[in-house]
Amino acid sequence: MQKILVEGGHVLNGKVRISGAKNSAVALVPAAILADSRVTLEGLPNISDVYTLAQLLEEIGGSVSWDAGQTLHINPENMISMPLPNGKVKKLRASYYFMGAMLGKFKEAVIGLPGGCHLGPRPIDQHIKGFEALGAEVTNEQGAIYIRAKELIGARIYLDVVSVGATINIMLAAVKAKGRTVIENAAKEPEIIDVATLLTNMGAKIKGAGTDVIRIDGVPTLHGCRHTIIPDRIEAGTYIIAAAAAGKEVVIDNVIPQHLESLLAKLREMGVTIKESDDQLYVSPGKKLKSVDIKTLVYPGFPTDLQQPFTTLLTRAYDTGVVTDTIYSARLKHIDELRRMNATIKVEGGSAIVTGPVELEGAKVKASDLRAGAALVIAGLIANGITEITGLEHIDRGYENMTKKLTNLGAKIWRENMTEEEIRQFQNS
Ligand code: EPU
Repeated sequence: MQKILVEGGHVLNGKVRISGAKNSAVALVPAAILADSRVTLEGLPNISDVYTLAQLLEEIGGSVSWDAGQTLHINPENMISMPLPNGKVKKLRASYYFMGAMLGKFKEAVIGLPGGCHLGPRPIDQHIKGFEALGAEVTNEQGAIYIRAKELIGARIYLDVVSVGATINIMLAAVKAKGRTVIENAAKEPEIIDVATLLTNMGAKIKGAGTDVIRIDGVPTLHGCRHTIIPDRIEAGTYIIAAAAAGKEVVIDNVIPQHLESLLAKLREMGVTIKESDDQLYVSPGKKLKSVDIKTLVYPGFPTDLQQPFTTLLTRAYDTGVVTDTIYSARLKHIDELRRMNATIKVEGGSAIVTGPVELEGAKVKASDLRAGAALVIAGLIANGITEITGLEHIDRGYENMTKKLTNLGAKIWRENMTEEEIRQFQNS
């Protein structure tokens, strides 16, 4: 087990290249199950969630091979409808995409209930509603979801909650169903468009991805193809926030600026200078940052995944800023850790009220989930002295080479093995 150490106070300067989008990758890899021949996915991020999903493809009989750690070749020809009630599926939430993909391909799936970050209740009722509307029978037996269908028939499905996962999962299940499926009140995230692009390249007929009505005309077979993933807007947003907190002049490379409009607007309101070009952003903080309020919303609103890193930035800004997460109201576990580092944050009615500016102090802190980890790393960059962060398994699930990327920007950040005593303390905390 390792921990990250950050020595605060070193100014970030230079260029950082953004990797492929985690939340696309975790759907693209299972989507390959639906093809009858080889699928090649280019530009995948080098993160543990993607490796776990690739291993799950092997468990069901697929063969996978990597080129240069970024290009994944998947041959689905020998895949079978193997039940996956336990084991690796429990490691990450996105293994729920095996439900839609295996149902679409084999008309049946058995998948252990997903794990992933603890952000409060994360139901999958809308996924199940979609599968049932397509003609599947769904039962929950001892913590695993059993899904079976004699045949899948297109249906009109209205999502009661706008959900990224349910939208993608229903697309996966519907692309080979008979007839037309319409998903209403669909999520509009760029990752959904990316998955629809892969499926379309495989021969699927999908219209409207990126809007709130998606129409899918089922096709009998899907073939292999080559697809390049979109850049990770949340990883980009994390480095943009780090640059606003601790940077002088930072260039974010391989980014689609339109995917980050809500974040960029808020940063401009705070006094950060941002210049956009096709696939790069230049970020330079002003001398004095002014606090703002943020409220997370579904895309294109402010992303919940950036709320935690943004909270760290607000500790640097003058006045009071209120952070409200309407997607995951319990996504607040980073707050106690930031307080340990001297932040002035009150939680009232589910909102975090951040008063600044304060000088953060290095401390021993724990990443309780992926984006909390990012928030703490940024806190370490601006804190006095050394910050020690444990819980790296969360950070490694979603950020490729974070310490290396920050080191290249001039940060003093490194990993060390934890002692046995530290591991004991960590496990008991
Ligand atoms: N929801 C339901 N029922 C459902 C599905 C969702 O009530 O059947 C609720 C959720 O509880 C939540 C809201 O709807 O309040 C939105 O959930 P959504 O389904 O959109 O989330 P998700 O698909 O499970 C993905 C990302 C998350 C990201 C959310 C933002 C993946 C693998 N995960 O989760 O990413 O926070 O969308 O909507 O794509 C992360 O990257 O750190 C992360 C947690």
